[in-house]
Amino acid sequence: MKIFLDTANLDEIRKGADWGIVDGVTTNPSLIAKEGRPIEEQVARICDIVDGDVSAEVVATEAPMMITEGLKLAKIHKNIVVKLPLTRDGIKACSALSKEGIRINVTLCFQAGQALLAAKAGAYIISPFVGRIDDMGMSGIELIEQIVTIYENYDYPTQVLAASLRTVNHVIETAMIGAHIGTMPFKTLDMLFNHPLTDKGLEQFLKDHAKSLEKS
Ligand code: G3P
Repeated sequence: MKIFLDTANLDEIRKGADWGIVDGVTTNPSLIAKEGRPIEEQVARICDIVDGDVSAEVVATEAPMMITEGLKLAKIHKNIVVKLPLTRDGIKACSALSKEGIRINVTLCFQAGQALLAAKAGAYIISPFVGRIDDMGMSGIELIEQIVTIYENYDYPTQVLAASLRTVNHVIETAMIGAHIGTMPFKTLDMLFNHPLTDKGLEQFLKDHAKSLEKS
């Protein structure tokens, strides 16, 4: 599974990139707003750090403006993937931009029928939000399962990007289902390292090593 960071924060992206395990980055208007720079500037900086897909979302809500904005965003860097919301206009813009060879990430997907529409419109990526479905008392993981099954049934090339991954279990379960990509905040990525037995085991190894030095 490809691991993407879901952040526009350059320090977090640098830290993840230094570990050598970050395949791409997803942003959205809320994440960009937190960093206080115009989207064009911020995503260009992100592209300088990570050599992989970097999603940049349009804020227009009508198809013609979405297309204009998407074309502009796509010109920033070869790794930019234009993000469009799963609305009627978003799907219309996705069909048009995909035909032009622009790679589209269709976002705000909360049910499998929406994912079918995105695949039909030629989306490069579909982004179902696992955590936000869980917040509603439903299963985000089940949604990922449904979408992966539908895409496999018809050989749709659209990649399933499990978004809103907030826990270690979210990451493990989406990987077991076979989601192509998991995008997560830095905090979730950092949590993947943790196990008390790793810490305890290392502590013991180092103690034993120190003792052996004392003896020699
Ligand atoms: O990429 C979608 C993501 O930013 C949503 O995460 O935790 O706000 O639901 P969350």
